[in-house]
Amino acid sequence: MTKRRIGILTGGGDVQPLNAVIYAAQEACKKAGIELIGFHKGWQGVLESSYLLLSKRKLDPTIGGTILRSSRVNLATIPDGAATALKNLEQLGLSGLIVIGGEDTLSNAFHLKDFPQVLISKTIDNDVGMIKKRGLITHSSDIINYFTLGYPTAALKISSLVSLNEGLRTTAYSHERIMVVESMGMHAGWLALSSCMGNPDFIIVPEFKLRYEHIRDRIIDRYRSQKHMIIVVAEGSRWDNGAYLSADESEKDSFGHPKFIGASAVLAKRLKEDLKSHFDTRNINAVNPSYIYRSGSPCALDIACAIKLGTKAVSILSRNPASPVFLTLQKNRKGFSVSEYPLAEMKNMENFHRFVDEGFYSPATYTATSQAKKYLSHIIREFKEKKYILN
Ligand code: F6P
Repeated sequence: MTKRRIGILTGGGDVQPLNAVIYAAQEACKKAGIELIGFHKGWQGVLESSYLLLSKRKLDPTIGGTILRSSRVNLATIPDGAATALKNLEQLGLSGLIVIGGEDTLSNAFHLKDFPQVLISKTIDNDVGMIKKRGLITHSSDIINYFTLGYPTAALKISSLVSLNEGLRTTAYSHERIMVVESMGMHAGWLALSSCMGNPDFIIVPEFKLRYEHIRDRIIDRYRSQKHMIIVVAEGSRWDNGAYLSADESEKDSFGHPKFIGASAVLAKRLKEDLKSHFDTRNINAVNPSYIYRSGSPCALDIACAIKLGTKAVSILSRNPASPVFLTLQKNRKGFSVSEYPLAEMKNMENFHRFVDEGFYSPATYTATSQAKKYLSHIIREFKEKKYILN
């Protein structure tokens, strides 16, 4: 009898716990007597039948990135893309596929609805999932997919980065600086929002257009009383007229997203010009950690959830599901558990694209709400900011 075979791929922007999911799938396949193959560069590897045998490969789940590498492939824009992918999966004798990706990579599953797949969401943008009741997290079941893999590590990083304990607050204070710190997040401000755990003064997210004069006046007031400041701005933030603060439309990816290249620098420059008459603006600084948020090792929560998701994915594919399922992380009293959500119920990926709303964010004060802090306290567990604030 030939051994059963399944595949795994990683697509879209990398996050730290990807190798941990692959490691868990590898271990589960070993136990179940299933052969695991890993496609090179996400869906590109499926289209080119380019893969490696993972069964004998030694993997370290604590190392970030993905040994399989990644790409942003849109099957809908490639002639015969879905048909070629399906033909190759069948020719390789696969009985299922584990797809690890963000909104875009996972959306390809809708073109292969009859092929058994398990979808695992990962993105530091945390924008795959749903909040059932607008802005109110009274119970964890209000959130479908509590977080996406990689978000806890990235949220921890940005909180530390702006904090007093380990971050920019100390030099901002010493030199009376205004630090404009950039967060990733092209459409959704979840990562910028998470910086609230490190107590920045203002947070700007893409969901709410930036009323420049409104925030400028608040910056002037705060600077007068505090003499230093940290402002976090998400890369995909927009001015009042709808234009991005900064985006390069000439470098769109296959899903039509522009390259974001420095909202923090643009905002810092405008503030420098505008605030000259109020104080010395030499120490208005832009800081863009950008890919740092996605790099390095995963935090403990990301590793633990990655292991659960990888193990569950193999167990689902072992029972030969007829159609794809999406795995969600649900919070319970003990921590997080994995649930299945049939792809058929999701209808399309847009239904599963979630945004920061006024339950989590106050556009009047540019700060996170107490609901957001409660939500984040379950995700960022390692980070404790000192109680006092310099002023
Ligand atoms: O995957 C989402 C993301 O983290 C966005 O926030 C960001 O705009 C994008 O990746 C940038 O990734 P890349 O430069 O790899 O296309």
